[in-house]
Amino acid sequence: MSASQLDGRVVIVTGAGRSLGRAYANALADAGASVVVNDVDPATAEEAVAEITGRGGRAIASVGPVGPAETAEQLVRDAVEGFGRLDALVANAGVLRDRVLWKMSDDDFDAVVATHLRGTFTTGREAAKRMREQGEGGRIVVIGSPAGQFGSFGQTNYAAVKAGLVAMARTWSLELARDRITANAVIPTALSPMTATIPAYTELYERFVAGEPIPAEVRRESALGSPEDVAPLVVWLASEASADVTGQAIGIGGDRLTLYSHPAVLGEEYSDGGWDADGIDAAWRERFAAQAQHSGPPKRDA
Ligand SMILES: NC(=O)c1ccc[n+]([C@@H]2O[C@H](COP(=O)([O-])OP(=O)(O)OC[C@H]3O[C@@H](n4cnc5c(N)ncnc54)[C@H](O)[C@@H]3O)[C@@H](O)[C@H]2O)c1
Repeated sequence: MSASQLDGRVVIVTGAGRSLGRAYANALADAGASVVVNDVDPATAEEAVAEITGRGGRAIASVGPVGPAETAEQLVRDAVEGFGRLDALVANAGVLRDRVLWKMSDDDFDAVVATHLRGTFTTGREAAKRMREQGEGGRIVVIGSPAGQFGSFGQTNYAAVKAGLVAMARTWSLELARDRITANAVIPTALSPMTATIPAYTELYERFVAGEPIPAEVRRESALGSPEDVAPLVVWLASEASADVTGQAIGIGGDRLTLYSHPAVLGEEYSDGGWDADGIDAAWRERFAAQAQHSGPPKRDA
C-alpha cells in the first residue's frame, strides 16, 4: 500500500463545494479518507457529497460560512460524530474582492479577512484542539497564493491574507511539532471561476470549461492546469508519507511543483550606537541597493 493512502483517516475540507476544494475532497476520498465537505453553499456541498458517495467513497456535508468560531466547532463535531475522529484539515474556503487600494472598501477588505484569515484561524484552532486530544498526530493544510508570496496588483486584501496564512502555517508548525501535527501551506494555481475573474485568463478558462485541453506551454510556463492537478499535493500532505514535512510553502499547478523559500535575510550592517537617516541612506546606496529584490511575480525567461 502506498504511504499516501488515507484509509481510516478523517479529513475536513472547507469550501469543498466546487473547484479546487471539490477536487481535494474527491482525491482525498479516492485515497480512502472519509471527508467532511464544508461549503457556505448547501447545494454544491450536497453535490460534492453525492459525487463521492456515488463512487463508493465516504463523505458528509457540513454547511456554514467559515470565519465564525461556531462553524469551526460544528465542523469538528460533524467529523467526530460522523466518522469518529479527525486527522486532517484542509482550510481552502476563500473569496476575492479585488480593487486597487484607493477604491477598496472596508467591506471588500473585511470579507476577505473574515473568510481566509479568520476562517483558517478558527478551523485550525478547533482542529488542533481535537487532534491534540486524540494524541495521534495530525495534518493542517492551509491555502496560500502566489499573490501572498509576491504581492499582486489590485489585491491588497487577498495578498495580505494569503501571506498571513503562510505565516500561520509556519507558526503552527512550531507550536504543534510536539504533538506530531504538521502544518503546511499549499500555493495552488488552477483554472477555476476564481482565476476566470482575472482578464488574462478568462478566455482560457472558457475554453477549458468547454472541454478543450489546456495547452502544454500554459501548464508549464503559467503553471495553470485543472483543479485536479493540484489535489495530489494535498493528498500527500494529509498522509503518513509527509510526516516529516512541516512549516513549508509548496506550490503546484499544471506541470509545475515549487518549493518556496522562507523569507531570508539578504544583508546586515551595523553602526555602533545605532543609525541616523544619513547613515541608512549611505548603507542603502553602497551595500543594500544591489541586493534588493523587486516585488511582483518572478520574471521568467521568454
Ligand atoms: N484558483 C486558483 O488558481 C487559486 C490560486 C491561489 C489560491 N487559490 C485559493 O484556493 C482556494 C479555492 O479557490 P477556487 O479557485 O477553488 O475558488 P472558488 O471560488 O471556485 O471556490 C471557493 C469555494 O469556497 C466557498 N466559500 C466561499 N466563502 C466561504 C465561506 N465563508 N465558508 C465556506 N465556504 C466558502 C465557495 O462557495 C466555493 O465553493 C481559495 O482559498 C483561493 O484563494 C486559488
